[in-house]
Amino acid sequence: MQNTIVPDLKSYWMPFTANRQFKSAPRLLVSAKGMYYTSADGRPILDGTAGLWCVNAGHGDPRIVEAVQKQVAELDYSPAFEMGHPKAFELANRVAKLMPADLDYVFFTNSGSESVETALKIALAYHRLIGQATRTRMIGRERGYHGVGFGGMSVGGVANNRRFFGPLLTGVDHLPQTHNRERQAFSRGLPDWGAHLADDLERIVALHGAETISAVIVEPVAGSTGVLIPPNGYLERLRAICDKYGILLIFDEVITAFGRLGTSSAAEYFGVQPDMITTAKGLTNGVVPMGAVLVRSAIHDAFMQGPEHAFELCHGYTYSGHPLACAAGLATLQVYRDDQLFQRSAALAPYWEDAVHSLKGLPHVIDLRNLGLVAGIELEPRVGKATQRAFETFVKCYDKGVLVRATGDIIALSPPLIIEKREIDQLFSTITEVLKALD
Ligand SMILES: Cc1ncc(COP(=O)(O)O)c(C=O)c1O
Repeated sequence: MQNTIVPDLKSYWMPFTANRQFKSAPRLLVSAKGMYYTSADGRPILDGTAGLWCVNAGHGDPRIVEAVQKQVAELDYSPAFEMGHPKAFELANRVAKLMPADLDYVFFTNSGSESVETALKIALAYHRLIGQATRTRMIGRERGYHGVGFGGMSVGGVANNRRFFGPLLTGVDHLPQTHNRERQAFSRGLPDWGAHLADDLERIVALHGAETISAVIVEPVAGSTGVLIPPNGYLERLRAICDKYGILLIFDEVITAFGRLGTSSAAEYFGVQPDMITTAKGLTNGVVPMGAVLVRSAIHDAFMQGPEHAFELCHGYTYSGHPLACAAGLATLQVYRDDQLFQRSAALAPYWEDAVHSLKGLPHVIDLRNLGLVAGIELEPRVGKATQRAFETFVKCYDKGVLVRATGDIIALSPPLIIEKREIDQLFSTITEVLKALD
């Protein structure tokens, strides 16, 4: 560290971080602009991960910065319960318009995790309201990540995120995960094999009874557990089985909404209509925390009964629809539109795909996966030291001025949608250099 005095690192207990390792060799970022962070030692760091899958419009866009600055001076906070402010309504309308038809209602949260908890609660309450109160079971999927609330952990399928925290929610079952290296390795885009894995929902229905199942929640493309691309036809099949048994289908689009696949949502990309969509991250470009749940009209309308002075849904957050988040969200959606960033993302996807698959044959690379501006580079784990090789790749890339993300033994990439071709080249040539030198 040369330019910035390193603070005392003791008290901050960092999330999803190897705290002792980090504190022995900290990686501190002090500013960001466009595609680059600046590290505390004054180096530019190319952002290959859009922060954490959220900074889709790139860093420090003056249009978003100014909107937030103006908002904080004008209306810093407005109570979320029984009161409103215009931008919350405006943003809800804008988000609903971007999402597939009929997902017309928007419930604001502050994160992806809260969006998932909210969607699960809406599913339960909805079934109760329509006289199907026995539908309480939730179906998630192995290797699913739905944040860190108790609902999200329960439907999630990440062993380490579950095993420390007790029995979690009861009445949860899991579909099998969809990745199979033997059948799918080095697929470009959607793997051809695996649509039939959706049929496992039939087994779960037969086991528990359809009348006990409330909702299925899946990520259309899973990111956090190592970039798992759905097999061709899988999501369509899941939708058909849910329809057959009256089960709600929730798409967790915390990473896929807002341009990651070149469309507003993965639902649009795949042409599959879910009953709810959970979002966060790209909604505000990561500038102010915010999440949102999109809900189909029939679900929303089922709540609009009973005495008019009573809450229709006993749920919400002090910061639901926070003015700063709404200002950031409105400015972000405008930037996406004015700069045609979703179209840009779609146009870059073939170049990106070629760059990803140029890594085939490099040492340690056992699989490459891509869709839209997402990539997963799976490395052979070191014997008895799983995850170490990917972690070292991450640290060495950082030392060479490129930010990638290690998850398990997979390097996950999800750059801002403003990335240039020369920056894609820089990203993959740095990874190539690092992998060639790695033991
Ligand atoms: C699919 C999905 N759902 C939920 C979450 C949780 O979001 P947050 O960290 O904002 O709570 C994430 C985070 O990466 C995610 O990828």
